[in-house]
Amino acid sequence: MGKKRAYLSLIENLDNLLECDHFEMSILANSSALIKEMLKDVNWVGFYLLYDDELLLGPFQGKVACTSIRVGYGVVGTCVERREPIIVPDVNKFPGHIPCDESSRSEVVIPIFVKGKIYAVLDLDSKKLNRFSSVDLRFLEQVAMVISKHLTREAHQLKNI
Ligand code: SME
Repeated sequence: MGKKRAYLSLIENLDNLLECDHFEMSILANSSALIKEMLKDVNWVGFYLLYDDELLLGPFQGKVACTSIRVGYGVVGTCVERREPIIVPDVNKFPGHIPCDESSRSEVVIPIFVKGKIYAVLDLDSKKLNRFSSVDLRFLEQVAMVISKHLTREAHQLKNI
């Protein structure tokens, strides 16, 4: 399957899957599982949830990871500071990159907005250098929007919004 078709299939499957969920942790847990299952060459997928100026590890698929990242630090914290996605073609060239899985070579992070505020960061790692292109990012932003839509639907249960 080509990249575009794989992403379209992921987005459709994710939207259908989350339709039945009524709890934010279930939405995030199943999202990380489906993304990991449906995308090639991804060794870690997960969420860091924003609490004040700290990002705390949420549901993920992959090796154990650091549990707390301050806003402004690492790739994840820089994403929140800039309020925009970041593609990291080579993690060793990103100043302040925080290594979790030593085999990760490239990374992409996408902020998830709920009601105009950053709720979490979606983080994907790959063992391949330069795994994430601007095409990946365009589709991953749609993935983030699907997740945001379902979180918003359950807004009364959200952690801090
Ligand atoms: N590399 C991230 C930390 C999270 S792990 O990749 C799972 C960072 O620099 O913020």
